[in-house]
Amino acid sequence: MIELRDVTRRYDEGPPALDDISVSIAPGEAVAILGPSGSGKSTLLNLVAGLDHPTTGTVTVDGVRVDRLGEAASARYRRARIGLIFQFFNLLDDLTVADNVLLPAQLAGTGRADAERRAADLLARLGVSRHADAYPGRLSGGERQRVAVARALMNNPALLLADEPTGALDTASGEEVRKLLTELHADGQTIILVTHDLTLATACATRTIRLLDGRVTADGRVTADGRVTADGRDYAAGSGR
Ligand SMILES: Nc1ncnc2c1ncn2[C@@H]1O[C@H](COP(=O)(O)OP(=O)(O)O)[C@@H](O)[C@H]1O
Ligand SMILES: [Mg+2]
Repeated sequence: MIELRDVTRRYDEGPPALDDISVSIAPGEAVAILGPSGSGKSTLLNLVAGLDHPTTGTVTVDGVRVDRLGEAASARYRRARIGLIFQFFNLLDDLTVADNVLLPAQLAGTGRADAERRAADLLARLGVSRHADAYPGRLSGGERQRVAVARALMNNPALLLADEPTGALDTASGEEVRKLLTELHADGQTIILVTHDLTLATACATRTIRLLDGRVTADGRVTADGRVTADGRDYAAGSGR
């Protein structure tokens, strides 16, 4: 479903953010991308979201060559297929919670009544219904992230992408978001998740990919009891192609 092939992303300065990586992800997988700061995790997510383009290589999602999309097509692709969750929520502070959640459906041209019904369902499911008419600034971090998850799910995305979704949350709120992502995966949602949070990775993900200096250094399975097992491939020194 998601295939990055021989992907390199270079900036003018410095070593490549991603250095010739190839990764395939199947529908229904929940993949945690791990690695130190600067290892290329967000770059990888942005390439899959079509928010950035590789310097060389291809990014294919559900048969769509995301690396070739222009700006308008890329926005349409995200609206139709991708749900995005960020560390700092990225809610619009001058829209109510309900209107934030409705926005993706409005942009997609969904009928008002259907969209409102779905938004109400999502807010209820995520336990933030009572804040529907409030502005995001009044909510706690955990509540804001749940609203952001509702917004991300609004258009029934085939793929949920989350970049450090618990990175700005206290322990209790982090736990809520962790549970939520784990439930979504159990319901069959395909998820790619960038995180420093090993608890999140092992709770929610069925697979972990480690990046270092823009290369894949390990690609392992997470077992039902939360252990990570390597897949036996040798990712050392350029052999991981
Ligand atoms: N817009 C940019 N311009 C120049 N360098 C960038 C840019 N974005 C990211 N980088 C560099 O690419 C590397 C990987 O960044 P990133 O993917 O954000 O890492 P991570 O998310 O793992 O912390 C880093 O060295 C970072 O400095
Ligand atoms: Mg990052």
